[in-house]
Amino acid sequence: MFTSSTVSIPESSEVPAHLAIIMDGNGRWATSRLLPRAAGHARGVQAVRRVVEACGRRGVKYLTLFAFSSENWRRPQEEVSLLMRLFVQTLEKEVVKLEKQGVRLRVVGDLSAFEPHLRELIKAAEARTRHNDALHLTVAANYGGRWDILQAMRSLLHDRPDLAQDPQALTEQELSRRLSMSWAPEPDLFIRTGGEQRISNFLVWQLAYTELYFTDDFWPDFGAKQIDAAFKWYRTRERRFGRTSAQLAEQSK
Ligand code: IPE
Ligand code: IPE
Ligand code: MG
Repeated sequence: MFTSSTVSIPESSEVPAHLAIIMDGNGRWATSRLLPRAAGHARGVQAVRRVVEACGRRGVKYLTLFAFSSENWRRPQEEVSLLMRLFVQTLEKEVVKLEKQGVRLRVVGDLSAFEPHLRELIKAAEARTRHNDALHLTVAANYGGRWDILQAMRSLLHDRPDLAQDPQALTEQELSRRLSMSWAPEPDLFIRTGGEQRISNFLVWQLAYTELYFTDDFWPDFGAKQIDAAFKWYRTRERRFGRTSAQLAEQSK
């Protein structure tokens, strides 16, 4: 599939076709309750369950969740290990349910850094749900937007050495086809919970024309009601993709 917001004008709909979320604030949710950060991460998994279900019901086709960034290795070893364990446990527990819900699961990121058992679980989960089409759930793990662009460039240069002689022949289409989420349209809506207003090296290329929604809610408190609030805000946005309001009004006549 090739839909690029800078090459052509994407279709907009009432409900975002692709929703991308930075699930932030687990640690602060826990600390504010005098709990260990681990408790916040555990509650974060419950929020994932609620949000997957809510998105499925509302007709979202693609849901992408940032679970672990390429910079999160900088956290204390203990927390990194806990997050890895949680990832393993969640995969072990949830895949059957996801399969029944019609969810196709994919994991994107530099998976080579993960231990073999986790990599195997990911492969098995992707294989098990590959026939599903109701909701495409992508978990970004050891993902970085810059890594994504770099790996796309590397793969392109490897397969198309001729481009080095004729750089003008390189098109957006060719590069974006090699990004790790090339099967999905660009996100229509981005949500970041936890109060920070930054992208933190998430989908750097793909967010070019995405509507950005920031909320102070911590991720463990997120669910259907908060999704509805974000979608309500999304419906108020005028997605112009470079055009003027008058042009849009003319078009909708
Ligand atoms: C997001 O919550 C989860 C991951 C990054 C894995 P945080 O752990 O970043 O929570 P805060 O930002 O410290 O509250
Ligand atoms: C971004 O959250 C990554 C994930 C949610 C997985 P962080 O909490 O790590 O982001 P920064 O480093 O504070 O921007
Ligand atoms: Mg954080």
